[in-house]
Amino acid sequence: MTVYNLGSINIDNVYRVPHLPGPGETLASSDVTKGLGGKGANMSVAVQRAGSPCVHIGSVGEDGDWALDRLRASGVDTDHVHISQPTGHAIINVDDAGENAIVLYPGANRHVSMGSVQAALAEAKPGELFVTQNETNGQVEAAQLAKSKGLKVIYAAAPFSAEAVEAILPVTDMLVLNEVEAQQLTEALGKSLTELGLKDVIVTLGAKGCRWISGTESREFPAQKVTPVDTTGAGDTFTGYLIAGLDQGMSVDAAIELAGKAGAVMVTRLGAADVIPTKAEVDTAFP
Ligand code: ADP
Ligand code: NA
Repeated sequence: MTVYNLGSINIDNVYRVPHLPGPGETLASSDVTKGLGGKGANMSVAVQRAGSPCVHIGSVGEDGDWALDRLRASGVDTDHVHISQPTGHAIINVDDAGENAIVLYPGANRHVSMGSVQAALAEAKPGELFVTQNETNGQVEAAQLAKSKGLKVIYAAAPFSAEAVEAILPVTDMLVLNEVEAQQLTEALGKSLTELGLKDVIVTLGAKGCRWISGTESREFPAQKVTPVDTTGAGDTFTGYLIAGLDQGMSVDAAIELAGKAGAVMVTRLGAADVIPTKAEVDTAFP
C-alpha cells in the first residue's frame, strides 16, 4: 500500500567550529557539510528504505530542488510538495568538544497548503497509513481528512507541544513519542498514557528500547546492543520502519522489533536522512 506523510523538509548545514561563537563574534568554520533533514523527510526516507512506497506532503522554496532530489533519490514521491517560502533549514555549529548550537528556520514547512494535502489524499484508500509530526502547519486538518477517508493516523509527537497532541488525539490511532515527550504529555494532561483512549502508544526509550502500551497492557522491548556514534534521526528511523512494517502487514510487535533494529543501526551512523539504513542493511546487521 502507500504511506502518506505530511512532514517537514530541512536542509541541515553543519559547520565545524573551534568553539561556539559568542555575541558579536565572527568565526571561521573549518568544514561544512550539507545533509537532508527534518523529521518529515527523515520518516519518508525511512519508510521508503524499509520497502514501502511513501508520498511526501509538504513545502519547500525555490531553493528546494536539492532537498527534493535527495528525497527522490530514495524513491520518495514528491509530487505533492509545493513551492512557498524559502526551504526550511538548520545552521548547526559543532565545536571541537562535540557541543552544538542550532538555528532552525522553519520556512516553507509552516506554509503547507491544504490543497496539496487534498490532492495527495485524493487517491488514498481505506486502510492505508497517514503519518505526521509537529514541524509543519495543517497537521490536524490533514489528519482529519485522512481519518475521514478511512486511513489509519499515526502521530509522532515531536517536537513536543501539549496543545498539538491534544488537538490531534481525537483522530489519532497510534501515538509515537520518546520518554521525555511522554513525561511532558502525562504532566500536561494530568492523565497516564493508558488513559488517553488510544489503541496503541509507543514510547521510545533510547538505549533502553521501547514500551508498547495497548489499552491497559504494557510491554517492553529491549534495544539492540550497539556503540552509538550519533543519535540524530534514531527516533525518525524507528517510526518510519514501524510504519513500513505495519504497511507490509506485520503485527505491531513484529513492526516494533524491526523498528528497534533500524533505530539501532541509525545510531551507529553520523548524519540524518542520507544515512538511514535500507532494509537489507538492517537485516544484515541483526539477522
Ligand atoms: P528520539 O530520537 O526520538 O529521542 P530514541 O532515542 O528513543 O528516539 O530512539 C528511538 C529508538 O531507536 C529506540 O526506541 C531504540 O529502539 C533505538 N535506539 C536509540 N538509541 C539507541 C542505542 N543507544 N542503542 C540501541 N538502540 C537505540
Ligand atoms: Na545517526
